[in-house]
Amino acid sequence: MADTSFSLASPALSVLNTLLPVARRIFTEAFSHLYEREAFAAFCQQVYACDGAMSRDFSNPEVDWKVAIANGEVVGYAKLTPLRAPAVRPAPDSLELQQIYVLADWHGSGVAQALMEWAITTARDRGAEELYLTVFDHNQRAKRFYTRHGFEEVGHCTFVLGERVDDDRIWRKRLA
Ligand SMILES: CC(C)(COP(=O)(O)OP(=O)(O)OC[C@H]1O[C@@H](n2cnc3c(N)ncnc32)[C@H](O)[C@@H]1OP(=O)(O)O)[C@@H](O)C(=O)NCCC(=O)NCCS
Repeated sequence: MADTSFSLASPALSVLNTLLPVARRIFTEAFSHLYEREAFAAFCQQVYACDGAMSRDFSNPEVDWKVAIANGEVVGYAKLTPLRAPAVRPAPDSLELQQIYVLADWHGSGVAQALMEWAITTARDRGAEELYLTVFDHNQRAKRFYTRHGFEEVGHCTFVLGERVDDDRIWRKRLA
């Protein structure tokens, strides 16, 4: 039987080079079929290149990261940031679970569950009354997962990639 054990770790800066291609792979597995190839590649370059948006967040002290490791490899990660989504009247000091991304082979394995528990506990420890996230309206699996963890839809926003403008939803969990 395959070994499905994993552990969570707070990644040191040295993990970034390993994390970037895994993050790109998860994003590609989940969403590349929706987009025109060149626009998708350009977006990935902006986000996942060594000097891209993800690297900048990695050295941002306001952003907390957690990675899931199995057999010595990164299989998922989560990232907690100050609120960036355009939520209406959020509680002060709200936080956002900006990404919770797990490799497809590890869906349903408990990795996402552990990362979510880390995010909720960390947000509470940081004194946040509300935890937000955004989700593509057609991402049914993610929406089921977030519902199970007590999030509910409270608004909407858009996600632009190339020519395509997607309808994203803003979800919130009250922590107080
Ligand atoms: C979203 C994600 C973190 C959830 O983790 P997971 O391990 O897949 O989640 P789980 O298996 O614990 O739960 C998924 C739920 O969706 C349900 N589900 C599975 N496939 C589904 C489908 N095709 N349509 C609708 N629901 C589905 C499961 O039955 C489960 O429902 P339940 O909570 O009511 O039991 C993970 O799928 C992932 O990383 N996806 C790719 C990246 C992504 O989309 N991230 C979120 C961006 S907002």
